[in-house]
Amino acid sequence: MNRNLLQKRTLWFTVVLIILIGVWPGLVLAKEPLQCPQPRFTKQAPDEIYNLENPLEPTPENLKKGKLLYLTKAKPMPCKLCHGASGDGRGPMARGFDPPPRDFTCSETINGVPEGQLFWIIKNGSPGTGMLAFKGLKDEQIWQILLYVRQLAQ
Ligand code: HEC
Repeated sequence: MNRNLLQKRTLWFTVVLIILIGVWPGLVLAKEPLQCPQPRFTKQAPDEIYNLENPLEPTPENLKKGKLLYLTKAKPMPCKLCHGASGDGRGPMARGFDPPPRDFTCSETINGVPEGQLFWIIKNGSPGTGMLAFKGLKDEQIWQILLYVRQLAQ
């Protein structure tokens, strides 16, 4: 066998090996379901915020804007990277975080948490966790995201 071919084969073998080592644990771990109800130790919002109701109606327009922010538009990064495209808390960046991202599909957890609380955490983050503060979102945009997020649990 000439040297060039041997080098090519070695290169391919290495590439395949790296892919297998890198991807396989990901596939296995990704199947592990998150606990539901999810243990929740998040700091509580101040009373006046905790008791806020969502001022927006779940119109198709508001839901569409919320969905777009959740999936792609929110800065510095969209929610789905951690909370998952389906809201199951298992986005591509989720594995690094303890506590894990909130699973919005787990109604036992999320339905018991008031709207104002969720609003507060999106605005200010949850200190000491992977949940960052989304300072760039307008209040209206946060409420739109929440209309969308609430649907994921139904
Ligand atoms: C870098 C990862 C990451 C991103 C991006 C992210 N989150 Fe989170 N989020 C988390 C983690 C981790 C938690 C769990 C925090 C905790 O347990 O206190 C969390 C918790 C939450 C909670 C639960 C608050 C509560 O009181 O239970 C809400 C609501 C939330 N995130 C909404 C969002 C929204 C909306 C976005 C996008 C605008 C977003 N998150 C983007 C990691 C992330």
